[in-house]
Amino acid sequence: RVVAVIMVGGPTKGTRFRPLSLNIPKPLFPLAGQPMVHHPISACKRIPNLAQIYLIGFYEEREFTLYVSSISNELRVPVRYLREDKPHGSAGGLYNFRDRIMEDNPSHIFLLNCDVCCSFPLPDMLEAHKRYGGMGTILVIKVSAESANQFGELVADPITNELLHYTEKPETFVSDRINCGVYVFSPDIFSAIQDVSIQRSDRANLRRVSSFEALQPANKTLPTDFVRLDQDILSPLAGKKLLYTYETLDFWEQIKTPGMSLKCSALYLSQFRYSSPDVLASGDGTKSATIIGDVYIHPSAKVHATAKIGPNVSISANAHIGAGARLISCIILDDVEIKENAVVIHAIVGWKSSIGKWSRVQGQGDYTAKLGITILGEAVTVEDEVVVINCIVLPNKTLNMSVQEEIIL
Ligand code: GDD
Repeated sequence: RVVAVIMVGGPTKGTRFRPLSLNIPKPLFPLAGQPMVHHPISACKRIPNLAQIYLIGFYEEREFTLYVSSISNELRVPVRYLREDKPHGSAGGLYNFRDRIMEDNPSHIFLLNCDVCCSFPLPDMLEAHKRYGGMGTILVIKVSAESANQFGELVADPITNELLHYTEKPETFVSDRINCGVYVFSPDIFSAIQDVSIQRSDRANLRRVSSFEALQPANKTLPTDFVRLDQDILSPLAGKKLLYTYETLDFWEQIKTPGMSLKCSALYLSQFRYSSPDVLASGDGTKSATIIGDVYIHPSAKVHATAKIGPNVSISANAHIGAGARLISCIILDDVEIKENAVVIHAIVGWKSSIGKWSRVQGQGDYTAKLGITILGEAVTVEDEVVVINCIVLPNKTLNMSVQEEIIL
């Protein structure tokens, strides 16, 4: 049997996702019309003999109650949210719930970061992991040498795929192969995490009785039950024939900023084109709007027949898109109203916002730049004939004149 664990973090993480994470836990922010965490969860469904999916985080329990019950029913796999009383780190969080995770007596445990977007080739990883016979297998991808330092960089043996060297976000270039934040482990991972905790408390004791302190300054402030998977487990265990790598040639992105959520929404929409085309808007029928490329429209949204939508547009529940509106590359959240002839391009429009007639809300479409897409927080009103270009607008603002390149607080 196999158990999957998705690390969802908590409210003190995901700060780069503001202002969108002010309203909703980042893992529940919709990409291609589905909560971010829905994508790894539905990928887990393809794992043979999957017994359980756990989400581990330190958000309030009630934030996930509704979602986990609806997704459990939809996928017919039990999905539970386990709440940490405080952050224990990516490995410490897993260890904290070891008894619960081992209840199903799993032979393998998948561990997934919730803020990565990829095709999650989990069954193939599991097969590779069984062949390697190690304690863990890490999904890796080749990225550009310039971007590698934002991730864990690693070196693997080209023949055996053994992980030989691992450094988390190094200052000087090590390798263009990086850690995708998707792992499969054997239950021995729990002893490896426990060893780190024990070593740390031994060191803390030693410090108390000696002047040993200077030898371990970096770990001084970390509590014994706070264990990071990357620095504390992967780095020291590299080159010991315990960890192996599985390289994906498919797409992979990390979702830390609203701009990246727009890019990842496009990736998931284009994946739907192959995996579940019926989820996408077809634009068939004389009463339907003109649809271009991959578009998701929630069944409760109302889109006027003369609107033109796409590519890469997701429209959430109860949104209302008026006559002649033009939407390209955007995420329209619940209860938004876009009035006649308004244009929205490279933008995220927050819950209950309203965009006036003949207005224009636009970003330049650079997903990685700070003001590369325009973001309207919750309940922002853009009045008629107002142009908003490359801006971030915090919740509850009314814009009655045009703005460009501004953060409106
Ligand atoms: N439950 C829980 N508790 N989750 C946590 C905690 C914690 O204390 N700390 C982090 N997480 C979750 C985050 O929500 C995220 O899904 C995942 O664990 C990793 O977060 P970080 O530890 O902040 O690392 P990162 O995202 O900057 O980088 C990691 O992922 C990259 C791939 O996206 C590293 O493993 C990199 O090496 C890797 O390239």
